[in-house]
Amino acid sequence: MKKKEILLFGATGQIGRNLIRRLTKNNYKITAVTRNIHRAGYILKTQANPGYLELKELRNFDINKIDELMGSCSICVNLIGILYEKRNQEFNIIHKDFPNMLSQLAKKNNIQKFIHLSSLGIEQAINSKYAMSKLQGEKKIKENFKKSIIIKPSVVYSVDDNFTTNFMMLLNRLPIMPLYYNGKTKFTPIHVSDLVNIIFTIIDGKYENLVLECIGPEILTFKQIIKSILNSINKKRILIPLPYPLAKISAKILQLLPRPLLTEDQLELLKYDNIKTGKYKTNLDLGIQSNKKFRIEIDKYSYNWTIGGQYSKKNNIEITK
Ligand SMILES: NC(=O)c1ccc[n+]([C@@H]2O[C@H](COP(=O)([O-])OP(=O)(O)OC[C@H]3O[C@@H](n4cnc5c(N)ncnc54)[C@H](OP(=O)(O)O)[C@@H]3O)[C@@H](O)[C@H]2O)c1
Repeated sequence: MKKKEILLFGATGQIGRNLIRRLTKNNYKITAVTRNIHRAGYILKTQANPGYLELKELRNFDINKIDELMGSCSICVNLIGILYEKRNQEFNIIHKDFPNMLSQLAKKNNIQKFIHLSSLGIEQAINSKYAMSKLQGEKKIKENFKKSIIIKPSVVYSVDDNFTTNFMMLLNRLPIMPLYYNGKTKFTPIHVSDLVNIIFTIIDGKYENLVLECIGPEILTFKQIIKSILNSINKKRILIPLPYPLAKISAKILQLLPRPLLTEDQLELLKYDNIKTGKYKTNLDLGIQSNKKFRIEIDKYSYNWTIGGQYSKKNNIEITK
C-alpha cells in the first residue's frame, strides 16, 4: 500500500510522540521537524518502524525550507505551542506568525489538509497573551486556507504530561496547595490517547473546514482535580483559597523559575472555564468518544509519586514462602 506523507511540527511534545506512533502504525509516513535533531532523535527514534519516520532539523522558521517540505507532503499537522514566553520565544511568533506562514504555504502548495492545534477556553481570556495569540493564529489560518482544521483541546494528560505529573511532584513536596479562584474553574481533561484518536480520525477521514473542540468525558473543577491527584498519590494536604492579589504576587515570583510553575498570564487564563463553548462542534458531535476517566488513568502512573512506589500498598503485595 502507498504510504501517505505527513509533515509534522512539534513532534517531540506529549501529543506529537503519541500521534506519531498511531499514524506510522497505520501506514502514514512522517517527516518530523524539530529544532534539535540530537535531542529529538533520542525521544523519537523508537516511535516508528524503519522507513516511516524521517527527522528534519530546522533551527528557525526558514520559509524556503518549510515551503520545500510542504511541497512534498499531502497533510501538514502543527503541534508547536508554548505555555510561557522566554527571551527567544514569544506567543505572537509561535501561535500567530508561524501558523500564519504554514497556512499560507499550505494554500500555495495546495496540500490536502492543514491541521492546527489551538486551545479550548481562550475566547474570553482577553487579558491573557497566550489566549489572544492562539485566537489570532486561528483567525489567520481561517483566512489563509479555507480547508484548515483547527483542533481545540481542553487540558491533555498522560504519564508524560506537564500537568498531572507536575502537580504530583508539587503535592508530594508541599504541605499546602493554593487554590486560585477558589478552585472553581472547570476543565474537561482529555487523555492523550483519546485526543490522538480524534486527531487520527480527522486525518484519516474526509474532514475539512472545521473547528473542533476536544473534550474528555468529565467536567472537573480545579479543586476536584487536585483532590483526585492527592487521593491517587495517597497524600493529605491543606488546600488554601488564595485571594487574587496574593495569587498575582505568587505568579510574579513563580514565573521567575527556569520552568515557571505559574505565570501571571496563566493566572489570567485560569479565570475562565475550560469546557465546551457551544460555539463549535465537539468530538462527540462527530461521534468520536473520549472514554478515559481522569481518576482511573492517573492511578495507573501516580505510584511514581507514592512512598515505596507501585508495590507500597499492602494489599498489592503477595509474597509466597
Ligand atoms: N498539552 C495540553 O494540555 C494542551 C492543551 C491545549 C492545547 N494544546 C496545544 O497542543 C499543541 C501540542 O501540545 P503538547 O502538549 O504536545 O506540547 P509540548 O509537549 O509542549 O510540545 C510542543 C512542541 O513545540 C515545539 N516547540 C516548543 N517551543 C518552540 C519554539 N520556540 N520554536 C519551535 N518549536 C517549539 C517543540 O518541538 P522541538 O523541541 O522538537 O522543536 C515541542 O515538541 C500545542 O500547540 C499546545 O498549545 C496542548
